[in-house]
Amino acid sequence: MNENLRGRLTRDGIRIYERDDFAGMHRAGDVAARILDRIAEHVFPGQTTEAIDARITAMVQELGATSATIGYKGYLHASCISVNHVVCHGIPGPKVLKDGDILNIDVTVIVDGWYGDTSRMYVAGALSRKSERLIEVTHDALMKGIEVVRPGNTFGDIGHAIQAYVESQRMSVVRDFCGHGLGRVFHAPPNVLHYGRPGTGAVLEEGMFFTIEPMVNLGRPETKTLADEWTAVTRDKSLSAQFEHSVGVTANGVEIFTLSPAGRFHPTYG
Ligand code: MF3
Ligand code: CO
Ligand code: CO
Repeated sequence: MNENLRGRLTRDGIRIYERDDFAGMHRAGDVAARILDRIAEHVFPGQTTEAIDARITAMVQELGATSATIGYKGYLHASCISVNHVVCHGIPGPKVLKDGDILNIDVTVIVDGWYGDTSRMYVAGALSRKSERLIEVTHDALMKGIEVVRPGNTFGDIGHAIQAYVESQRMSVVRDFCGHGLGRVFHAPPNVLHYGRPGTGAVLEEGMFFTIEPMVNLGRPETKTLADEWTAVTRDKSLSAQFEHSVGVTANGVEIFTLSPAGRFHPTYG
């Protein structure tokens, strides 16, 4: 049987995976998370984002994985690197990092056909108080979203948990990009919104695999995409941060596939 067609789809078109499939997702997620652990030492003032991406390309190979982003819809790099007011999908290039720059590095790998998709924040040099708060709120928002993942809750519950927390901290949640189902494919139903109302949206079921990847702005939530057709920036030029985990719904909660093997997630704890 075609492995892409294993399991069943819900009425919302969301694939339900089987217990054995969690192991494949853990292997893929672990490789992606390991790459994010190891890339930290390559982030410093004077470094270019294309040099960081070249390290990631090499690490994907060393770990016996395949990049999911090289060749995806014409994208040519193993990572997205989004600096300061870039919200997401920053293209690695000759841009030189300077002291105090904050950046999201987003890596998606394929291991034995399973996709692992995760991103974290890094800092070049010294982290300002303002940037640190943005990064902390964004990470806490992701974890508050993950905390409500269990069968019977809804995707709206996830979005609400994230939005309510971020807005309580006087920051804003980006509406223009969302998380997504994944598994044996990169992007699948549902769209996982990072805002919403409790009890709305599809009901979570054991065996659903998806990402949660909130983008949080210090200013207004609106974004625009640059002429390169990838780079999304905040319209008001305010700083933006993002964290992403790939997760699976279990019988009574959630498993995170992309946890840091080194216990790292924060630029200053690394
Ligand atoms: N990894 C991104 C996500 O979280 C997608 C990047 S697609 C690319 O869904 F082509 F820009 F790399
Ligand atoms: Co994703
Ligand atoms: Co990603």
